[in-house]
Parts: sequence; C-alpha cells; structure tokens
Amino acid sequence: DGFKPENLFRQGYSYTYDDVIFLPGYIGFPVDKVDLSTKLTRNISLSIPCVSSPMDTVTESSMARAMAALGGIGIIHSNCPPDEQAAHVRAAKAHRFPILSNPIFRSPSDRISSLDDFATSPCILVTQSGDSKSKLIGYISQFQWMELPDGSKEAPLADYMVSSVDFVGWDSDLSQIVEYFDAKGPKVDFAPVAGRSGEIVDVVARADVETLRGYPRLLGGGSVGPDGELMVGAAIGTRESDKVRLEHLVKAGANVVVLDSSQGNSIYQIEMIKYIKRTYPELDLIGGNVVTMSQADNLIKAGVDGLRVGMGSGSICTTQEVCAVGRGQATAVYKVSSIASQSKVPVIADGGISNSGHIVKALTLGASTVMMGSFLAGSSESPGAYMVQDGRRVKKYRGMGSLEAMTKGSDARYLGDTTKLKIAQGVVGAVADKGSVLKFVPYTVQAVKQGLQDLGAASLQDAHDLLKSTLRLEVRTGAAQVEGGVHGLVSYEKKPF
Ligand code: XMP
Repeated sequence: DGFKPENLFRQGYSYTYDDVIFLPGYIGFPVDKVDLSTKLTRNISLSIPCVSSPMDTVTESSMARAMAALGGIGIIHSNCPPDEQAAHVRAAKAHRFPILSNPIFRSPSDRISSLDDFATSPCILVTQSGDSKSKLIGYISQFQWMELPDGSKEAPLADYMVSSVDFVGWDSDLSQIVEYFDAKGPKVDFAPVAGRSGEIVDVVARADVETLRGYPRLLGGGSVGPDGELMVGAAIGTRESDKVRLEHLVKAGANVVVLDSSQGNSIYQIEMIKYIKRTYPELDLIGGNVVTMSQADNLIKAGVDGLRVGMGSGSICTTQEVCAVGRGQATAVYKVSSIASQSKVPVIADGGISNSGHIVKALTLGASTVMMGSFLAGSSESPGAYMVQDGRRVKKYRGMGSLEAMTKGSDARYLGDTTKLKIAQGVVGAVADKGSVLKFVPYTVQAVKQGLQDLGAASLQDAHDLLKSTLRLEVRTGAAQVEGGVHGLVSYEKKPF
C-alpha cells in the first residue's frame, strides 16, 4: 500500500511538500512522549527543530534570542557591517530572558526633556556616570515620568528616580525574574539585568513577564552553549572580506556560522570551508545551499558540519524562474538527506515552510531541522516596524536576493560593482502580524508532535528509521490537494440576534 520513498522519488518528478502525503502508521504512545530534540550540526543539539533564516526582515538579536529561548536557534543575517552583525550576536546572547529591550542610560544629574527620551525603551536606567559600566542607582519609567506633577519633570533625575541598586544576573530564567518581582512588591515594574562582567545589559519589564505567563509553556531551558549563554548563529559570504566579518562574529561568541549562498557547490565556498576549518577548528560550520546528492557530497568532503537544503523553494524566491535551476523541496530534502545521513551530517530543510504539516514532511523526509523565513516574519521579534495595509497590520518581508535588499547593505558587494550587474532573485512583500514567536512556535511544535505520532514516530530518529523501513507515501493529485484543504464552505459570519 503506497510507495516506498526511494521508488517515489526516483520517477523523475520534482516534488514540493504539498505534492506528497504520508500514509499513517501505528500509534503506540501519547503525543507528549514525542521528543523533537535534534541536531543542527554535528556538534550542536537543539530541543526543537526550528531555525530562523538569516534574512534582514527575519533574524536580528530579538529573533535570535527568542528562537534560542524556545530551544531552537536564530541565524543573524549579514546584510549590515560586520560590527553591527556582531553586536546583534552579543545582544542576543547577553542574557536568557527571551524578550529584548534596548536600555537607555542616564546619570543622576541628567534631565529628561520630553517623551522622546524614552524612544527605545519604556525605562531609563540611572547609573553613576550615565553608562552601562558604572554603578546602578535607580530608574524611572516612562509612565512614572508622565505622572510627575508639572514643574518636577524638568528636575535632575536624582530628584525623582526610583532608587534601586538591585538587578538580576545574566543567567536568570523566567522563574528567577518572577521571584525578583514578587520580592520587590507591586511598586517595582522593571528588573535591570547584569551582564557577565557586572555591567547592566538590559532591563526586563514586569509587563513582559506577565505576557509570557499567558503564553504556552516555553519548551525547555533554551539552547545554551558551552559558554552558558544562549546559542546564536550568524551568516557570512565567501569573499575575502568575509574572513574579517567572521573574526568579529567569533569574538562576539557566535556558536555556528552559515555560509550563505543560493548555490553552495562552488570553488569559493569549498575554499572558505577549508579556511574556516583550518583557522577555527572548534567552530561549527553549515554549508549550502544544495539540492542534489553530488552538491552535498562535495561540501561534506570539504568538511561542513551541517547542510542547508533548498533552492528556489522559499516564499520570496524567484531563483527557479530567473536561473532555471533548483528542485522541489520534498525531493531535495529526501535526496540530500539520503547521502548526508551516511556521513552523519544533519540537514536543514530551508524554505517553503508555511504550515506545521510542511515541517512534519521535511523532518520525516530526512531533515533534522527546518529553517523558516516567512513563517517567522511579521512577528514581534522580526526586525522592522508594523504598517497598516488594507486595514491589516503587516511587516515587510523581502528576499535577500531582491534588488531592495541588495541595494541596502550589500551595494558594495553587488550594485556598487558596476562591472557585475546583479540580477534580482527575490521579491519584496509583506506578511500579516503574527504576534510573538514565543507564542506561536510552541503551538506549531505541538502540531508537529501530533504529525509524528500519526506516523508512529516518537522521535526524529524514529522518523528517519521509518523513512528507511515502513514509511509509505503517495503523490497528491490536484483534486486531492483541494480535498486536503478547507473546501466546500461559504463564509460564516456570526449574526447578532
Ligand atoms: P521561506 O519560504 O521560509 O524561505 O520564506 C526562506 C528562505 O528563502 C531563501 N531566500 C531566497 N531565495 N531569493 C531566493 O531565491 C531570495 O531573494 C531569497 N531570500 C531568501 C533563503 O534560503 C531563506 O532561508
């Protein structure tokens, strides 16, 4: 009944996730017994198989911190100067509480002139010299400042700040921060967070803690590296200047580096892999992107610790149309995984994920993690401001190969070089406001567990074993795809009686 994967994928078709469907297996365990812990690379383990894309509308510090706190990982994009990218890595790793603020420091003699002084944070921290390195003496929140009687607002901060010298440590988790607020009582709304060397690196708002309490349980202790900090990845290219970028990133504590290329099987990437392995033997390295077994074989031989799979399957990609190369993502993941598993190199299924079923398919077809762009874009943690479009809150989401993205930070790399005209391989769009990834990723993960349970797999290893033994799948006809989605309904509106 159904096709063995090796038979289905040898027929000469390029299948996307939507083209295929698995036949259910036998359920012998409850859904909560499904364990999604996995490997990103040979040496990096994660507790959930979710990775955020290195795109400038997806992963900067806020997303990277949240993804790591959830047990996944974020890869900081490289469409900015190296020191800026390194600062994102540092900020993401600075402490474990998953919501990032942007603290403002002032000295006790400073005065606040307007609400604009609170532009990047609802709380101003007062330290002896007005910087993060000197001793903390108090704080004032935007709300408290607005409530001051007229005439007092212009006074030096020392006259009205809330005197407080306490802070929480960089490795405090949610429960320790809750304890801090409980001990301080209802008048204290902010908890300053100290970095490793005692400087104040951030501030946690009581409101953020309350928000998190209402979310589904965060999935575990987060992805913590050997340095005790949250793990963060970063993307680089294969140019000479990327060696300098890499140095910045390594100093900032990046745990893994992704060589970001749409066609990774190149002399440039192979030479870069060899350089990195020689220079930073301890650093885990993800190569790609690849979609064929021979591409994968070349990068595995060059020494990668993980492989990123996908070409033209992303929601904003036009590579397949512009360059006539690529592969349907289900076929690509299956084919590359079948060779990568022989060398125990984990595969990251990159692009084309728009629902939990796609994640189940990617993982069952051999991937160890999925990398997502559009699925995570439009969240509170993605970079950029919300806009209102046709009455809906949206955020910009753009391909890194779009002309707009290339013009932004990479004009020196692309358009500035007039001898090489760059051809766009991506588009710019917008995605709807999704709220926080801290809220919707746990729901998605639960749905993925249910999918694996239906297949009879209690872990990713089980799923990969099934792929080689009893898993059977079929191609869905166009009508089957329609039948598998919501159909035959008219829109339903609640009528007031
Ligand atoms: P999703 O479907 O998750 O895809 O939005 C994200 C992935 O798409 C790739 N990417 C691009 N591919 N042109 C492309 O052909 C582009 O401009 C582009 N930008 C991103 C990338 O692999 C990402 O993780």
